[in-house]
Amino acid sequence: LYFREVDRTTASLYALIHRGSRGDRDFYRRACAGGARVLELGSGAGRMAIELANRGHHVTGIDIEPELLAIARAEAAGSDGEPRLRWLEGDMRSLSLAERFDRVVVPYNTLCCLLSNADLRRCMLAARDQLEPSGKLVFDIYRGDPDSTVDDTEEHLVRIEHEGKCWDVFERAVASRDPMRADTRYRFAADDGEELVHCIEQRLIDDEEMLGALAAAGFSLESKAGGFDGEPLDDESPHLVVVARR
Ligand SMILES: C[S@@+](CC[C@H](N)C(=O)[O-])C[C@H]1O[C@@H](n2cnc3c(N)ncnc32)[C@H](O)[C@@H]1O
Repeated sequence: LYFREVDRTTASLYALIHRGSRGDRDFYRRACAGGARVLELGSGAGRMAIELANRGHHVTGIDIEPELLAIARAEAAGSDGEPRLRWLEGDMRSLSLAERFDRVVVPYNTLCCLLSNADLRRCMLAARDQLEPSGKLVFDIYRGDPDSTVDDTEEHLVRIEHEGKCWDVFERAVASRDPMRADTRYRFAADDGEELVHCIEQRLIDDEEMLGALAAAGFSLESKAGGFDGEPLDDESPHLVVVARR
């Protein structure tokens, strides 16, 4: 699994270095306009859910990782949107919420955490079942060429401060073509010698497979773009950004 049994410090450090993609907040705000109830799959540390709740939406965030949900709750405390937020521990491959939503959003490459096409299709079906008849599914995933992302060298990413300690963050990408994977290993080294390692398993999903899973679940495509400002999708596009109708 993506993030199981991670301790609070590792989850916090992870959240500090994953602040989203440029332009994604505005894009999701626009995509959710007119939708009162929003379900976010893989809501993580709450970045997007809190943003949307602050804008007036009623947002349910689901994540499989309890430590990230705890961070999200703490982040939301005292925000304008807090009364409109609900956090649930759950698996996006098998949702069974009683209510229906106007939008199901899956920001920031979260679908890449589903390591098989079967899991991806299960998630698409589950998302569709949670939508109102007029509802929409909105997501983005990154696109990458595994051959050009293979990189076995560890790079110093950033130095961050967390609870009075300074942490150097090192990142190592380990991509492969068969299966198409873009795993990442983070090493956090504190100034007092403490060291934490966190590995993320992620799949690279090609456009055909992604759009095929969407269609197989019964969605119809409203728009697909190569970025958050409607850039046309081409071979070089860094993201696949999709809005689909139920
Ligand atoms: C890249 S983060 C995205 C966080 C958040 N959506 C954002 O935009 O900042 C992916 C999240 O998906 C969660 N996740 C991975 N697999 C999951 C699953 N099967 N069900 C629910 N959440 C999952 C992870 O725990 C992580 O918080």
